[in-house]
Amino acid sequence: MAYFLALDAGTTSNRALIFKEDGQVVTMAQKEFPQYFPQPGWVEQNPIDIYSTMSGVAAEALAKASLAAEDLECIGITNQRETTILWDKKTGLPVHNAIVWQCRRTAPLADALKEAGYVDMILGKTGLVVDAYFSATKIKYLLDKIPGLRDRAKKGEIAFGTVDSYLMYQLSEGRIHKTDVSNACRTMLFNIHSKTWDQELLDLLDIPREILPEVCPSAGYFGSTSPSFLGHELPITGVLGDQQAALFGQSCLEAGEAKATYGTGAFVLMNTGPDPIISKNGLLTSIAWDIQGQTSYALEGSIFVAGSAVQWLRDQMGFMAYAEESEKMALSVQDSNGAIVVPAFTGLGAPYWNPYCQGSIFGLTRGVNKNHLVRATLEAIAYLTHDVVQAMQEDSGLKRKLLKVDGGASNNNFLMQTQADLLQIPVLRPKCTETTALGAFLMAGLGSGYFKGLDEIQKIWQKDREFLPALAPEERQVGLDRWHKAVNHCLNFNL
Ligand code: G3P
Repeated sequence: MAYFLALDAGTTSNRALIFKEDGQVVTMAQKEFPQYFPQPGWVEQNPIDIYSTMSGVAAEALAKASLAAEDLECIGITNQRETTILWDKKTGLPVHNAIVWQCRRTAPLADALKEAGYVDMILGKTGLVVDAYFSATKIKYLLDKIPGLRDRAKKGEIAFGTVDSYLMYQLSEGRIHKTDVSNACRTMLFNIHSKTWDQELLDLLDIPREILPEVCPSAGYFGSTSPSFLGHELPITGVLGDQQAALFGQSCLEAGEAKATYGTGAFVLMNTGPDPIISKNGLLTSIAWDIQGQTSYALEGSIFVAGSAVQWLRDQMGFMAYAEESEKMALSVQDSNGAIVVPAFTGLGAPYWNPYCQGSIFGLTRGVNKNHLVRATLEAIAYLTHDVVQAMQEDSGLKRKLLKVDGGASNNNFLMQTQADLLQIPVLRPKCTETTALGAFLMAGLGSGYFKGLDEIQKIWQKDREFLPALAPEERQVGLDRWHKAVNHCLNFNL
């Protein structure tokens, strides 16, 4: 029996999972780490917390499985993407907190690029819309803000990385400064056609090339951990961004197959095969992965708020003690009693792309209670996902036949049924909803040579439950019309 360690560095928690070769999860350990909100719309994390919680959960998962590091075949890493860390190459210490993907502080820098007319050039090269979401403006912000940092960067003293790079650097005590194509393509500095860092974009943002990690295929030998991690050197053989990992773990290996992951945000990705499709409807084009010399591309709709809206109901509104209660609360009422929640807490992502609009509640009357608001919030997640899938159909010309789902909130049966009702296609939930970690393990297994090809991987995916559309078309249309009216209000309303 072979065992694999998957490290899943998420936005709010880090998780380590031990998988058996047949895809069964042996053990899992998870720990949240602090988030910092220095100003409205700003989000930071301490990179040292990211590494220390990850090393803690890895040791815990191994101990729970009664295994030693020597029993592991290899490690796969998957991570929250775009989050930007700069560190001192000599000491490994960060020069600033990580600027998290959700952070809106560089929206004015993104606006300046748009106003200067770079939208088409950037979309053409990187597949991305110009937005503060991606790493590029965050790197520029730090280089501009910290005195002397750009000079030190030019001298080769400073490293940049997304969370995968930073973890590999720490795990190897500074021997590995690499990333994979699926992470590199989310920086807004990477040309997705030539698969190289783009000098024109680096010059435009005054970012020295010296800080950049080496970009590798997603499956292959990245290097080995040092014995200070788990007491034994272990090969890292698979690395990919968490949304691409979920696409892989969902076995969406053929062009046209799609998944939605409901985590902190919700991310819908469709495999488009060996050719990138550049969106006309506000979607992103990314590299899904690069395996054995073959690149697969994906169309992506990124929704910034999904599970975090339920956290908001729990923590800020105090409507429930546990997020899981949201399903029962939503089902305790027949409808939202006219209420519509637009959870635009960090602006709106795809397909609207407005960093400034804020969350709103519409349709409040005296009879609206907390169950209605919980229901309306869950409905909003399904509406936002509907809008993205709609845009995806328009871009690709392909009508979706089904949607695979995963992530924490995919366990919410009310949300999944609503999703099927709005999309009017079956929604399929797999037995293993840890698809992100599953994808990292499978990628590492390919990279180490344990798995010989994609056909071995395809066998691992298993269905848990299928949600079939059950809502009358007229009722669905009324709901969609009201939703779009509310979104338009948010987009046009400026306090
Ligand atoms: O692009 C951001 C995404 O990678 C974060 O994913 O699962 O941490 O919400 P998650």
